Amino acid sequence: MQSSELRQKYLDFFKKQGHAIIPSASLIPENDSTTLFTSSGMQPMVPYLMGEKHPLGTRICDSQKSFRVVDIEEVGDGRHGTFFEMLGNWSLGDYFKKEQLHWIYSFLVEEVGLNVNNLYATVFRGEESIKVTKDSESVDILKDIFKKYGIDAKDVNFSEKDGMQGGRIFYYPVEKNWWSRSGIPAKMPIGEIGGPDSEIFYDFGVDLKKHDNSEWKDLPCHINCDCGRFIEIGNSVFMEYKKTENGFEKLTQQNVDFGGGLERITMASQNTEDVFQTDLYLNIIKKIEELSNKKYSDDKKSFQIIADHLKAVTFIMGDNRGITPSNLGQGYIVRRLIRRAIRFGKQLGINEYLWQTKLAEIIISDYKDIYVEIQNNKDFIMDCLSAEEIKFENTIEKGLKEFSSLSSQNIISGKDAFLLYQTYGFPIEMTEELAFEKGLKIDMEEFKKESEKHQELSRTASAGTFKGGLADASEQTTKLHTSAHLMLAGLRKFLQDSVSQKGSNITSERVRFDFAWKDKLTQDQLKQVEDFVNEAILKDLPVICKEMTLDDAKEINATGVFEHKYGERVKVYFIGEGEQNISKEICGGPHVEHTGTMGKFKIIKEESSSAGVRRIKAILQ
Ligand code: ALA
Repeated sequence: MQSSELRQKYLDFFKKQGHAIIPSASLIPENDSTTLFTSSGMQPMVPYLMGEKHPLGTRICDSQKSFRVVDIEEVGDGRHGTFFEMLGNWSLGDYFKKEQLHWIYSFLVEEVGLNVNNLYATVFRGEESIKVTKDSESVDILKDIFKKYGIDAKDVNFSEKDGMQGGRIFYYPVEKNWWSRSGIPAKMPIGEIGGPDSEIFYDFGVDLKKHDNSEWKDLPCHINCDCGRFIEIGNSVFMEYKKTENGFEKLTQQNVDFGGGLERITMASQNTEDVFQTDLYLNIIKKIEELSNKKYSDDKKSFQIIADHLKAVTFIMGDNRGITPSNLGQGYIVRRLIRRAIRFGKQLGINEYLWQTKLAEIIISDYKDIYVEIQNNKDFIMDCLSAEEIKFENTIEKGLKEFSSLSSQNIISGKDAFLLYQTYGFPIEMTEELAFEKGLKIDMEEFKKESEKHQELSRTASAGTFKGGLADASEQTTKLHTSAHLMLAGLRKFLQDSVSQKGSNITSERVRFDFAWKDKLTQDQLKQVEDFVNEAILKDLPVICKEMTLDDAKEINATGVFEHKYGERVKVYFIGEGEQNISKEICGGPHVEHTGTMGKFKIIKEESSSAGVRRIKAILQ
């Protein structure tokens, strides 16, 4: 089955069971300091799993864009990708184990058409220390399910020691069959939710020789041994516990959190153990073959890294909260992915100018009907990719030469690794990878010291950052904050209605404002924006804050980043009332009450901030 049909069938199937279909949330989580990226469908659902009412009811499903940093190094084994789509369904205190397990197996067997003989299940073995007993209830349900398909499913307790023993359902310990955002119970912070789970595995029936790389290689093989023969294609978490000071307590409601990788279910459906051979990558791989004049089978690893990383950055930059390559946080991950892809592109002999944009074109065209934002943000994606490629192309050759000259030593000093980073733009992980390939080590302690010395500077710069990019809540900062809203309204009026803000930093001296725009602004445009803000100040317009739902904010066409968090209430700041309204923006404040108090607005600088992003600095006199 083609992946697009599979995605749609999943949503339709759960809709039939009374679920509301919601769109994917942003890949860049908001107000979540625990993680840089959305890495499972469950993350945006946390408040509702904890008991908050979801406006669309107690049964929800979606297909969520997800990205996992931890898998960057795993790409290359044919099974892993950093970007994937997670098909998810949730019971928010509604149905529980029986319905969930019956539905998900019916979906896989009857809708997708997977051969039930290739499906295996795991369940929670129980854990004394947290007083959660083994999940024999799920075992009974699973036995009924397999029986329906003519299989007499045997449950086995210790397959990791004794092998599969003809079993179909396997108990595993807490390390394998407990799920929370932070992993096993011991790692969960107080207040975090989690629960036992039941995973579904697909047997690719791969040649037993492949088991040589299994961590259990001296033990009889089993379905969780990670050798590649069995692949997890879905996980039903029975989320009913919360960690408290006094151990685990039951939540007020019993939830189900199901997640299944679309890519992996597609692998099973298309019967290939290589995810890059599914239709979700076919066009991308074909394009890399064309660009490199090589066949996928010539160097699978390089192909996979390029295909995966380009897809990931296209989605991260193409998000409505799009991220540009930089040296910090999410931007650093984007930079790392792009530069690693460039390096492997070199290895494949690709030398077409701006070749990464050619791949992004393919990815956007493959996905634009499902995730329209990547089409809407196409220019931004292309600009970022081009700029990053041009920048790195200038230094990579010299950097690689420098690296070769260093690799006569057994160990690469931290100072040299830092030089590669600072002078040639080699992310440290890339130098580590190069070193690893040559059997060399890097003095990471020294590298850390070097980079800390350097980071002193950037840390000082960001230490004062307040909520929403404000350095403090002083009167002058507040005035400049309101001027930023007026400036955005002006830019939207004189450049284009779709101009979006890409960040701001406001101190009591000046406002620094970044927005998505390709070209340098002309003197005329700058003057128009400046005049627009000053006219608004002269009119002494009232600034009014109204609270409303995100949907209502969208309805009235307010500016701001919209994320699909149903029912969330947001503040919208209106400048001017009725006919005189010139700005309405989702924002946490603070703002002045009347524009007349602000003084005279003056733009002091306009420059490029990064690819596709311009920066204006302005003051109030
Ligand atoms: N949240 C669960 C997972 O990511 C379904 O595996």
